[in-house]
Amino acid sequence: MKQSARLFIAAELTAGQVRELSVLAGKIKTTIPANYVSSKNYHLTLAFLGETLLGITEQVKACMVQAMRGYSPQKLALGEPGFFGRWQNAILWCGVSGAQQLVQYSERLRRALRQQGIHFDEKPMRPHITLARKANVEGVDLARYTPQPLAANPPAVTLFESTRLQGELVYIPVYRHVLK
Ligand code: 2AM
Repeated sequence: MKQSARLFIAAELTAGQVRELSVLAGKIKTTIPANYVSSKNYHLTLAFLGETLLGITEQVKACMVQAMRGYSPQKLALGEPGFFGRWQNAILWCGVSGAQQLVQYSERLRRALRQQGIHFDEKPMRPHITLARKANVEGVDLARYTPQPLAANPPAVTLFESTRLQGELVYIPVYRHVLK
C-alpha cells in the first residue's frame, strides 16, 4: 500500500473564474508557446508540502482547521498576468488582488505545520495562479491579456494530492475546508 503522497494546500477558485482563466489562457496560447495547465488544475497555492507520509494527513487537516480561526471572508479578484523565471523558460501566471486574508491564513497554517514538525516549502507565498510552464514570453506584452476580475469569495481551501492518472497530472482533493 502507498505510504506517501505529494501534497499541497491551495485555495480553490469559482467556476466562473476558472472559465475566465481558461479563456485568457486560450488567447495567450496564440502568441506564447508553453505547456499549458489544464483548467481543472487551476488553484492558488498556500503551502507546498511535497512528498509526505500519509500517516500525518490528520495532523495536516488539524493545522488547516486551526489556521482558519481568524479568517474573514474576502473577495479574490483576477488580476494581470505575469511570469517567474527567465523569458525563454518562464512560469506564466495570472495575478490576483484581495488575497490578504489568504496570505494571513497561509502564515497561520505554516506556523501550525512548523509546530507539528511537518515539512513544507518555506519559500514565501506570492499569490498567483499558474497558467503555463516552459513559456517563452520574450517580446510579449502580457498587459494586453487582462481577464475580467470576477471578484468572489474563494469557495474552499483544500488539501490536494498531486498525482498522475494514465499519464495525466491530476490534483485529487483529500480534504476540503469549505469557506462560508
Ligand atoms: P504553483 O506554482 O502554481 O503554485 C503542485 O505541485 C503545485 O504546488 C504546483 O502547481 C505549484 O503550483 C505548487 N508548488 C509550490 N511550491 C512548489 C515546489 N517547491 N515544487 C513543486 N510545486 C510547488
